[in-house]
Amino acid sequence: MNDELTPEEKEALKHVALKLESYEKQRGNLIPILQMVQEKLAYLPTEAIKVVSEHLEIFECEVYGVATFYNQFRFHPPGKYPIKVCLGTACHVRGGDIILENFERKLGIHAGETTADREFSIEKVACVGCCALAPVAIIDETVHGHMAPSKVEGLLMRIEIEKEMEERAKKKDESGR
Ligand code: FES
Repeated sequence: MNDELTPEEKEALKHVALKLESYEKQRGNLIPILQMVQEKLAYLPTEAIKVVSEHLEIFECEVYGVATFYNQFRFHPPGKYPIKVCLGTACHVRGGDIILENFERKLGIHAGETTADREFSIEKVACVGCCALAPVAIIDETVHGHMAPSKVEGLLMRIEIEKEMEERAKKKDESGR
């Protein structure tokens, strides 16, 4: 994916750099610092890892090593439509991994990644607490239960149609002004 920072992210990175000054240069501060960075940027871009490594005077690979150990950290920006596929036990035995593969294939990305246009991201999650509906996928807060591989395309198509309708409504709005 295109990992170039957006103008908003560049601005947020400047705030991160300023905020870093309030953290002592101690290795023990790495996790709280990464949490702060993710809070500001929603993920940990390469540029932020670099800034953190410079502040703590440790190698970037050490920062990555720690960050990748914890699954609370993301390395790609969340998509406008984040897709979470549950791979908890109940969903797994009912084919959750096949649902995941279908989303990956249709969108051309893997779990943990975001499409180049930043519209979709895919994430694997542990039990989301509605096992009776297994297998489950959550798209932008909406829970889709009893998922089947054949439903994946329909869901993505529905999003495309909604986007198109939103786009048209926006254009209509603008031309009516
Ligand atoms: S295992 Fe998927 S909702 Fe519980």
